[in-house]
Amino acid sequence: MLPESTSPVMTSPPGPVTVIDGRSYVYFAGTSYLGLAGHPEVIQAACEAVRQLGVHTATSRSGFGNNPLTLEVERRAAEFFGTERAFYFSSGYVANHIVLQALADRVDATFVDEASHYCLLEAARLLGKPVTAFRHRDPDDLARCLRENLPAGGRPLVLTDGVFSVSGRLAPVKEYLRVLEPYAPAALHLDDAHGLGVLGENGRGVLEHFGLWGPRVNSAVEADGVSLTICGTLAKAIGGFGGVVPGTREFVSRVRASSHYFDGASAPSSADAGATAKAIELVQRQPELRRQLQANIARLRTGLRTLGLAVEDGPAANFSVEIGNGANMRRLHAELRAAGFLVPYVAKYSGLGPEGALRFAVCARHTAEMIDGVIAALRKAL
Ligand SMILES: Cc1ncc(COP(=O)(O)O)c(C=O)c1O
Repeated sequence: MLPESTSPVMTSPPGPVTVIDGRSYVYFAGTSYLGLAGHPEVIQAACEAVRQLGVHTATSRSGFGNNPLTLEVERRAAEFFGTERAFYFSSGYVANHIVLQALADRVDATFVDEASHYCLLEAARLLGKPVTAFRHRDPDDLARCLRENLPAGGRPLVLTDGVFSVSGRLAPVKEYLRVLEPYAPAALHLDDAHGLGVLGENGRGVLEHFGLWGPRVNSAVEADGVSLTICGTLAKAIGGFGGVVPGTREFVSRVRASSHYFDGASAPSSADAGATAKAIELVQRQPELRRQLQANIARLRTGLRTLGLAVEDGPAANFSVEIGNGANMRRLHAELRAAGFLVPYVAKYSGLGPEGALRFAVCARHTAEMIDGVIAALRKAL
């Protein structure tokens, strides 16, 4: 007997077909973009980890909390990103807060995209420096805010999602870097939760997509340039669980030392670490997953446009569509659901307009029939 809940209850692994409230749906929700969160090898790895190591180490990383799987996640993550090191911890939500601690003494004021994810907005406030919100994805407004709010000689830090969690739009990273150059030393930090594993030749995310991945990222904080930092979660496209900060040996050491997450929080659970190590291995072993995902993204976005809907082209696996008002989108959601397709209507989330939106998420394991099926069902419901 399941406990009473006002939210839907998932009783299968998330995948292209997912069981919600006792019914199977072709599932266009969530964030398991590569379709690995329910992969048999990932499940098996999680089970073996718990059998071998117990639920978790019951101590922090700086105590006796390193187990072989936590270290393996960090080794694999560093390999995936092509960096010297990576720091793995139990939540992507705190990842920005953790990185920002390492930047704190080099920053005088923060400027945050107004539509950023809650965790980035909270991390900005927790940094304890003055916070200014600039208009969503607007480099000109960022320039205006810097002119008006940064004290002379002050060092700015700009914060943004790499890929926005509902709209799937990308931050104009190159433009922000250009705006920041005259203010150097300055810093730009991105939460790339939805870009990691999806965007770029090697799945390294939005910076790789824009050709900006390289030694400059998560390296020594530049004395006179614009530093570029990034963090992400392994719980979305990658199919594991927990937050990650890759980088140079020096940067990762600084991040670990500046935040107390390394010595004040329980190490990631064994199941999480075991699943995550396996999931990263699968992502590395099967680059075709990313190619299939990109083909599915293009098929769904293009197909929805044939219905006359304003769906932009873009490389993100998540995107939103606004179709009339909230009541209409609630109806469309219900009709799609009755037809066996789950496309959430998100009424309220950071970055959304007052009427909310239908949020689509496509995964590498959706078949062409599934994608064409949801388009046909929406055509009927419109
Ligand atoms: C942009 C962004 N950052 C961070 C998170 C949180 O990551 P995690 O679920 O690993 O805590 C989310 C959503 O889950 C997100 O959308």
